[in-house]
Amino acid sequence: MSATHMKNSSARQNWTPGSWRSFPIRQVPTYPDPAAVEAVEERLRRYPPLVFAGEARRLKSHLAQAARGGAFVLQGGACAESFSEFTADIVRDTFRVLLQMAVVLTFGAKVPVIKLGRMAGQYAKPRSSDTETRDGVTLPSYRGDNINGAAFTAESRVPDPLRMETGYFQSAGTMNLLRAFAGGGYANLHEVHRWNLGFVERSAMAQRYGLLAERIGETLDFMAACGLTTASTPQLDETEFYTSHEALLLGYEQAMTRIDSTSGEWYDCSAHFVWIGDRTRQPDGAHVEFLRGVRNPIGIKVGPTTTIEDLERLLDILNPTDEAGRISLISRMGATKVRDHLPQLLRKVQGTGRTVTWLCDPMHGNTSSTTNGVKTRSFDAILAEVKGFFDVFEAEGGFPGGVHFEMTGQNVTECIGGAQCLTEDDLGERYETFCDPRLNAEQSLEMAFRLAEELKTRKHHVPGGEK
Ligand code: PEP
Ligand code: CO
Repeated sequence: MSATHMKNSSARQNWTPGSWRSFPIRQVPTYPDPAAVEAVEERLRRYPPLVFAGEARRLKSHLAQAARGGAFVLQGGACAESFSEFTADIVRDTFRVLLQMAVVLTFGAKVPVIKLGRMAGQYAKPRSSDTETRDGVTLPSYRGDNINGAAFTAESRVPDPLRMETGYFQSAGTMNLLRAFAGGGYANLHEVHRWNLGFVERSAMAQRYGLLAERIGETLDFMAACGLTTASTPQLDETEFYTSHEALLLGYEQAMTRIDSTSGEWYDCSAHFVWIGDRTRQPDGAHVEFLRGVRNPIGIKVGPTTTIEDLERLLDILNPTDEAGRISLISRMGATKVRDHLPQLLRKVQGTGRTVTWLCDPMHGNTSSTTNGVKTRSFDAILAEVKGFFDVFEAEGGFPGGVHFEMTGQNVTECIGGAQCLTEDDLGERYETFCDPRLNAEQSLEMAFRLAEELKTRKHHVPGGEK
């Protein structure tokens, strides 16, 4: 434990779900009626948890495996989920592409792939500016559907606490569907060829995926002939699927935080995994204080402005006992910076002997604006950052634990490039995101194939996963 942490921990002794309230906080909405906020939080405190502590613990043990090269994490979903896109088809399509990507990556890395959706609660967004100006009109920024509305009107941009309650119920509905898909036969490996999406079916990616599905089918037939069927091997019939979001709106997260009756410890039961964003990771800030006391596996975004000192302090505060699987460091440097910035941080963490799971978010350091001012990202820059991330691990040693994408199962046109060769001119066609540009279904699948090739040649991982 470092000297700074000793100082820190004495000032921080009494953690409670609400102790963050006396710490400096950023990215917080200003509600016009604080009593109305309290009333909603009071109701949320009585509602059932969305996940169970035991599930979060199980995910934590899988993430510990990924830290040691025995598994690979695939975290993905929308930048911002929206209330208006709360439909079975949209949830199913994102789930389905994640399953397809996971199958492709499992074939590449030959290790179990941990599936972690940015789903069922990804409703609160940090913003670079508190206000947004369009045609000379300035309004408060959109902060995610849990807080205010995306429509550019004064009325819609007022933070409304009832949105937290809607967010809770929509998370519950999404979660229910995901649980049904994951455990109810949809994720059965025998169905692998059926996961090809309608519009992708005619594409090069669909053909490539179809061939892979055939090989998997043959392997399953062979295994069945050897006596390994879904009856004897339930893993073939279902999958484990976990949820995650940024723990940004702390009043909501606090209300979802409960004591686990088995362990007597606190868990944030809004999702299995929650992370701290790049804008709220101040070691002395409220977000770090809140996450210090919950036992979920947590993520910390690590960007070009993260200093070695801050990272050390964060690890001391958030994981003083160095529990494996507790911390995932999500590197989001940008394709041109990852080779310069990541090695020193990685070396430092390795030098302290700490166990962390390193993930690569190749989205948030690669956002650019077109000449028309539309936010986009290029497939090539995204791929280049992941390759740079893998290269750093190859040079420094250690295991790249997984990847983190903003993606959707819909056929949107938000990122340029990929096999569809989307250009800036195509972006207007189906630009539907409520926040950052996402890879569409075909770009996501293509990304998985490209990463599988990389993983195959690099052999970072332990084939078959850790025993
Ligand atoms: C995000 O993941 O949507 C996000 C805002 O990322 P970051 O905090 O890394 O900028
Ligand atoms: Co984003």
